[in-house]
Amino acid sequence: MTSKSICDLFGVRYPVLQGGMLWLATAELAAAVSNAGGLGIISPYAGMKENGHPIRNLHLQIDRARNLTNKPYGVNIPLDLHASGLLIDSLLKENIKIVITAAGDPRLYTELLHSAGICVAHVISSVSQARHAESCKVDAVIAEGFEAGGRIGREELPLFSLLPQVVNAVYIPVIAAGGIADGRGFAAALALGAGGVQLGTRFVASEECIAHHNYKQAILDAGDSGTVVTRRSSIPIRSLKSDFSMKLAAMENSGASGESIGKFIGRGRARKAQIDGDMTDGDAYAGCSAGLIKEILPAAVIIEILVKA
Ligand SMILES: Cc1cc2nc3c(=O)[nH]c(=O)nc-3n(C[C@H](O)[C@H](O)[C@H](O)COP(=O)(O)O)c2cc1C
Repeated sequence: MTSKSICDLFGVRYPVLQGGMLWLATAELAAAVSNAGGLGIISPYAGMKENGHPIRNLHLQIDRARNLTNKPYGVNIPLDLHASGLLIDSLLKENIKIVITAAGDPRLYTELLHSAGICVAHVISSVSQARHAESCKVDAVIAEGFEAGGRIGREELPLFSLLPQVVNAVYIPVIAAGGIADGRGFAAALALGAGGVQLGTRFVASEECIAHHNYKQAILDAGDSGTVVTRRSSIPIRSLKSDFSMKLAAMENSGASGESIGKFIGRGRARKAQIDGDMTDGDAYAGCSAGLIKEILPAAVIIEILVKA
């Protein structure tokens, strides 16, 4: 069986996705990526006030995207969000054509989304998850390696090992994510059998991203070993090294109880770093590719660097 190309599947010029990023992937960022020939993705909390209303916010973001681009764009729904069902329901009324699901079982909503004519790609981090997603009839999987920023798979598989195994295991197109920041990473992913790539950290350090300047600067300053993985026993997260993330790693390594760790983490750490710029007490998600990122660039230039190399 020959699978569709990513460009045909999404109706884009280049098989380059800007990954969903909960507080950051606004209509402006998504539209900049889509206008440059990639696929921009909107996240439901992006641009929202701390205690805002995600469904109203998502409508607002989609409205804005409609005014900013006539190119295809998608919406990311992490399935473990409390409001995921309501968010999916609201998408059905919005004439959205592409949804990227993550962090949950694709069996939940793929059929419903398909019945509304929506193309669905699902983020996976192992071969068994890829096979399961294919059995749920998703149109593509996004194989995310352990190098990626933010939440990552418990299997701890780096992209170079994960990607060809997923490509061997499924018939649907595979998009590679994790550790890709330039044309070399893009070419390597294609060589390993991917039909396209998804980038997160590289787009945080873009001009159109609403991430706080301190966070963008910290990515530029990170170097090759500037990130750390914490919460390995629950949902692992890769973030920039900071007072917060290093204290948390030390607590985890010393066998602190789940209760004391939960108390220490508290609430709102991601937003604190990413939107408020608190690089001491906040949690600044970033992948290993931070070491490759030396400049804040317009999203269109990031895409050009990727595809023209
Ligand atoms: C700040 C940040 C927030 C993220 N939030 C989400 C999210 O809400 N949903 C999701 O599916 N992936 C999320 N991701 C993962 C990205 O969509 C993407 O797959 C990942 O960043 C790719 O790896 P890279 O950072 O090495 O490019 C996030 C990544 C970052 C850096």
